Amino acid sequence: MGNELTYREVVVGNERSASAEVDVFGCRPTTWRETGDELGDAVDDLDGKVGVVTGAASGIGRSLALAFAAEGVRLVLADIESDPLEAVASELRATGADVFAVTADVSDAGDVERIGIAADDVFGALHLACNNAGVGGGGLSWEIDLETWRWVLGVNLFGVIHGIHSFVPRIIASGGGHVINTASMAGLTSNPGMGPYNASKHAVVTISESLALELAMVHPEVGVTVLCPGWVRTQINRSDRNRPGVSAGEVGLGGESGSLSRMLDHLIETGMDPDDVAALVVDAIQTRKFAILTHPDWSDAVSARIDRLLVGELPEFRLPGTLTD
Ligand SMILES: NC(=O)c1ccc[n+]([C@@H]2O[C@H](COP(=O)([O-])OP(=O)(O)OC[C@H]3O[C@@H](n4cnc5c(N)ncnc54)[C@H](O)[C@@H]3O)[C@@H](O)[C@H]2O)c1
Repeated sequence: MGNELTYREVVVGNERSASAEVDVFGCRPTTWRETGDELGDAVDDLDGKVGVVTGAASGIGRSLALAFAAEGVRLVLADIESDPLEAVASELRATGADVFAVTADVSDAGDVERIGIAADDVFGALHLACNNAGVGGGGLSWEIDLETWRWVLGVNLFGVIHGIHSFVPRIIASGGGHVINTASMAGLTSNPGMGPYNASKHAVVTISESLALELAMVHPEVGVTVLCPGWVRTQINRSDRNRPGVSAGEVGLGGESGSLSRMLDHLIETGMDPDDVAALVVDAIQTRKFAILTHPDWSDAVSARIDRLLVGELPEFRLPGTLTD
C-alpha cells in the first residue's frame, strides 16, 4: 500500500487504506486518515471561534455577521464598501461583539490575503470563513461585454478561489473549522440572461465539492458548506453600485433593463429574509451539512435539468416562483 493507490481506490477501499501514504492525482503524497467518519467532527460550539465574512456590509453577509456574533464568534468583516461595512461593524460592537473591519476587493488576491493577515494579527487564529461577496451581471451572452464577464467571474469565482487560498491553510493551522462558500440556485440551474452569474455559481458549487472531498481525505477537521440560496431580500439587484467604472443602473442581475430585470427586482424584493439564510448556515456548520438549498421547492427544477441533459435534451427555462410554478 503506497503511492500507487489512486483516489478511487482510497475511497472504495476506505478501511484498508488507514494511514496509507497516497498520491492524489499526482499531488504530493499525503496521509489518508481513517476517521470512521469521513467528514470529521462538526464545529458545534462557535463561542470564541474566529470567523471571516466577505461581503459583510449588506444582505446575506451582514446577516451572517450578526448570526455569528450572536454565537460569540470573533469576527473579521470585509467588504468593498467601507461606510456600510463600518456601520455593520459599529452595530455589532455596540452589542459587545469583537469585530475588526477590512475594506477589501475579493477579486484581488492581495486584498483577500490582507483579510487573512488581519485574522492572524488581531485574533491569532481562524476557524470559520464565509466566502460570500458576490455581484450579479448578465444579459444576452453574445452581447455582454467582456468587462462584465471579467467583473462577475472576478468577484464571484476568483473571490471564492482567493478565499480558499488564503483562509483554508489558516483554518488548518488553527486546528480546524469550517468554510462556507456562497453559490446560488443559479449554480444548479442555467436560466437565460444570467450567463456570467450562472458560470460563476456553477463553478463555486463544483469547487466546493472538490474542496470538501479533499479536506475529508486530508484534513477532516475542516468542514465545507456550499450555500445555494433562491431569492433573498438583499441588494444583489443593485450590484452595479460596486462595479468599477460603471454608473448605477447600467448593469443589473439579469442584464441591462427590460422585463427580466424588473421581474428579478420583484423576486428579490419579495424574497427570503437573509437572517433566515444565516440561521441555516449556523445550523449547517453545527451539523456539518454540505449543501444548503434555502428553497427546497426549487429542487424539481434541478432534477428536471439533469434528466433532460442525461437524454441529450436542452433543459427547459424554469425560473422558480414565476413562469412555470
Ligand atoms: N439575494 C439573492 O437572491 C441571492 C441568491 C443566491 C445567491 N446570492 C449570493 O449571495 C451573496 C451575497 O449577496 P447578497 O444577495 O447579500 O447581495 P448584497 O448586494 O446585498 O451583498 C453583497 C455584498 O458584497 C459586497 N461586494 C460586492 N463586490 C465586492 C467585492 N469586489 N469585494 C468585496 N465585497 C464586494 C457588496 O458591497 C455587498 O455588501 C452573493 O454571492 C450572491 O451571489 C444571493
